[in-house]
Amino acid sequence: MFAKDNNYEIFMGRWSRALAPQFIAFAEVADGERILDVGTGTGALAIALLENRSLVGVTGIDPSAAFIAYASETNTDDRAIFEVGDAQNMHYADASFDRSLSLLVVNFIPDPLKAVAEMRRVTKPGGMIAAAVWDYSDGMQMLRLFWDEVIAFDPSADALDERHMPYCSKNELEQLWREAGLQNVKVTALVVEQPFDSFEDYWAPFLLGTGPAGAYVAGLKPERRATLRARLQKRLLADGLTDPFVLKSRAWAVIGTARLK
Ligand SMILES: C[S@@+](CC[C@H](N)C(=O)[O-])C[C@H]1O[C@@H](n2cnc3c(N)ncnc32)[C@H](O)[C@@H]1O
Repeated sequence: MFAKDNNYEIFMGRWSRALAPQFIAFAEVADGERILDVGTGTGALAIALLENRSLVGVTGIDPSAAFIAYASETNTDDRAIFEVGDAQNMHYADASFDRSLSLLVVNFIPDPLKAVAEMRRVTKPGGMIAAAVWDYSDGMQMLRLFWDEVIAFDPSADALDERHMPYCSKNELEQLWREAGLQNVKVTALVVEQPFDSFEDYWAPFLLGTGPAGAYVAGLKPERRATLRARLQKRLLADGLTDPFVLKSRAWAVIGTARLK
């Protein structure tokens, strides 16, 4: 179980960790608060939040028992609680948290409007609710380069490209927050640098079978996989990059206030 979650860490979790501090600053987290981390996964956001020694507590909720086990095992701070649960139907009482945050999750929830309504319910009136989602369309360079090359050599893979995921654009995310009845809605771009030691450092995580990209690579015959690898290497070098190199990835972040009753 843990090997699989380590794979998530190596493939995507490391970029969540890079994004978390910017997202925390954007979400205006204040001293002394109790925070809900919706879709905590392996705990990247919760653990970054706990660096603020004044926070009273952080509760991370996620439907994946394996991720929750990983987050619980790797965190030693007794202000943290990690629980299995669904953002669309949380067991917390109304107004339990000062702030509800969700990093890179909204696009995976079947009914995001219901989840945002739940975040609003469990947040104190006047508290803030914030989320961020990678811009898979053209802002997440690591995956954009991958899918562009895949589709150039296998157009039938187009439907797998994460650019088709919902809520990955500024407008869709902003609209969701407004539809959920949040006030003072603001959206901004957060950009992280993704340093790679070598082409191998970029390519190896795609071999771990994680996410749609990993699943696609795992399903390729060895010679097709080698062709894709060669195409990506050529593409990265043709873009003027040499080892080590740095890509950039953008996430859209949204924040709004739960209405005062
Ligand atoms: C891309 S991961 C992000 C995890 C973590 N927040 C991070 O930044 O590393 C998406 C997460 O959303 C969670 N998720 C999917 N459906 C959910 C739901 N209905 N309620 C809460 N979390 C959900 C998944 O289990 C997964 O951990």
